[in-house]
Amino acid sequence: MNLILMGLPGAGKGTQAERIIAEYNIPHISTGDMFRAAMANETALGLEAKSYMDKGELVPDAVTNGIVKERLAEPDTDKGFLLDGFPRTLDQAEALDQMLKDLGKEIDAVIEIHVPEEILVDRLAGRYMCRTCGATYHKVFNPTTVEGTCDRCGGHDFYQREDDKPETVKNRLAVNVKSSEPILAYYKEKGLLQLIDGNREIDAVFADVKNIIE
Ligand code: AP5
Ligand code: ZN
Repeated sequence: MNLILMGLPGAGKGTQAERIIAEYNIPHISTGDMFRAAMANETALGLEAKSYMDKGELVPDAVTNGIVKERLAEPDTDKGFLLDGFPRTLDQAEALDQMLKDLGKEIDAVIEIHVPEEILVDRLAGRYMCRTCGATYHKVFNPTTVEGTCDRCGGHDFYQREDDKPETVKNRLAVNVKSSEPILAYYKEKGLLQLIDGNREIDAVFADVKNIIE
């Protein structure tokens, strides 16, 4: 199963991706996670990505397409894959088509998790992350079971993403609304787009995701 997960910042892509990869045992390819890992390792890619991400801007297509192309060429993608946060521009969508053509693969479904913008602001403002394993939580909507302890790895060190600060969130949302419109139309025309109401409980959203996949 080759899937694309779309949705504005805070729509719940990462949250649903965790459940999808656990249930279907396919690799999770998140360009945002790849950039954050590169930033943490202070590589040249990380430094370049940081200059865009901290402002809520998109990393240039050539850079983003390059890392996805490398990742899709790895053998674990033969059992399927979940792209999360890619493609985000029409240029990326077209580049992806070419990559998949070269690999003899096709996209089975594009799932868009739709959530109204005003709700996204609260989701991003309350999000916190485990520094050890990267698990995502929310102060109100999805807290750790035991306060201060990560459910997944037992870690105690949490942080807020730099781009979740209110000044950046506004621009991130605007940038992503603008860039996503043409790609949604692109996949709709191909008959691949599946819309999900993401403004519900995490489990209810996941039930819809499973329905689409199965
Ligand atoms: P990326 O890391 O992809 O971030 P994003 O798209 O902004 O999405 P988020 O990770 O913020 O949100 P999410 O949808 O995963 O929501 P989550 O599940 O965490 O990209 C970051 C940056 O990298 C970009 O701005 C750009 O600079 C760069 N980049 C990445 N890909 C790129 C590309 N292709 N091209 C160019 N640049 C690129 O949920 C959010 C919060 O809500 C959490 O606290 C969660 O617990 C909570 N929550 C989740 N679901 C629910 C629910 N159903 N109800 C209540 N709360 C919920
Ligand atoms: Zn953890």
